[in-house]
Amino acid sequence: MPNVSPVKWHLAHTTWFFETFLLRPRMGGYRVYDASFEYLFNSYYNGISEQFPRHQRSLLSRPSLAEIYQYRAHVDDSVKHLLGEADNQIATILRLGLNHEQQHQELMLMDLKYNFSCNPLYPAFCDTPSIDSKTIAAVRGSVEVPSGIYEIGASPENTRFCFDNETPQHKIFLEGFKLDQYLVTNAEYLTFLEDGGYEPADLWLSDGWSWVQQQPAEKRAPLYWQQLDGRWFEFSLYGLNPLNLSQPLCHINYYEADAYARWSGCRLPTEQEWEVATALCAPAAPTIPSWGLHPSVSSGEDIVVNVAADQATDPAPVLHQLLNHLWQWTSSAYAAYPGFNPLSGVLGEYNGKFMVNQMVLRGGCCITPEGHTRSTYRNFYYPQERWQFSGIRLARNLT
Ligand SMILES: [Fe+2]
Repeated sequence: MPNVSPVKWHLAHTTWFFETFLLRPRMGGYRVYDASFEYLFNSYYNGISEQFPRHQRSLLSRPSLAEIYQYRAHVDDSVKHLLGEADNQIATILRLGLNHEQQHQELMLMDLKYNFSCNPLYPAFCDTPSIDSKTIAAVRGSVEVPSGIYEIGASPENTRFCFDNETPQHKIFLEGFKLDQYLVTNAEYLTFLEDGGYEPADLWLSDGWSWVQQQPAEKRAPLYWQQLDGRWFEFSLYGLNPLNLSQPLCHINYYEADAYARWSGCRLPTEQEWEVATALCAPAAPTIPSWGLHPSVSSGEDIVVNVAADQATDPAPVLHQLLNHLWQWTSSAYAAYPGFNPLSGVLGEYNGKFMVNQMVLRGGCCITPEGHTRSTYRNFYYPQERWQFSGIRLARNLT
């Protein structure tokens, strides 16, 4: 799959990032480890150099893993020396490099999962944890947010770290809306699928319908689902296991999320709605992370399965499974905020140049490194992509 890189490449690339943007411009007398690595491990920075084709990264059997570790040690040693003379600019780039590496830590697991899923032995990356299997979730309760003028976006002065694409803070007007308290579950999506959700063209966006028609029948389901002898299974980093109906649905693309929302009489939230609702609910709903290699049903939260909203025993207007469960598709195209200024120089290529043809996802997921996300964080993927840990939270209009 063209998007997937070997773990070794991720390690070399994140090392190259520190070398290129921190050590070479900021450390007098720095010795470049190997000039040929620039072509191999530059991801997409045209202002630096041309790049080895992404879809061929898996062919790079050399340099060896041992040599990549030596490269890493060389760069780590140099960064440690540089820390002794760190000024604000060095600290800013170092912080960006660390957050960049965290993004690649998540990519490593996404890519490993995809590659493992291609192996008919369905290897488990690690053993299944003993999951608390108490009955969980699917109250379709929602939180109501009134019409009004709100402020969204991050202010670099007021946060430990943010990417340039989260800035500047700005005011927006929102019509009142409702946002579901919980993510869509496997059980709910299975109902959509068994209802022939992949069949009627009128449920699908035009590009989405084209995508559906390109999929063989057995692929018209979430990426890691498969049916064996009439039973549904799901592949995860814990291997191939029977589909857990009460777990949050994951690995669907934007087209599938949009079609499901339409089928259910709802819609996807805009990223502005998601952020405003999150900010309003945050004091009442502290984040309960679900660190693990698959979105967990429980993650410390008591929820009730398949109980009608009017029978729900959870009256509190809080949003559950908000951060660090699954990236949640929004209906917002990834674009610049009013007054957006990309980082200066080549680092301006980090985010800004991708602001076309992609959709925003919010929330972080269970394999996102701890502390990496925040309510203003904007992730983005192309609408057909689904190897990221993506899920659905539904929204609807008040009227
Ligand atoms: Fe990168």
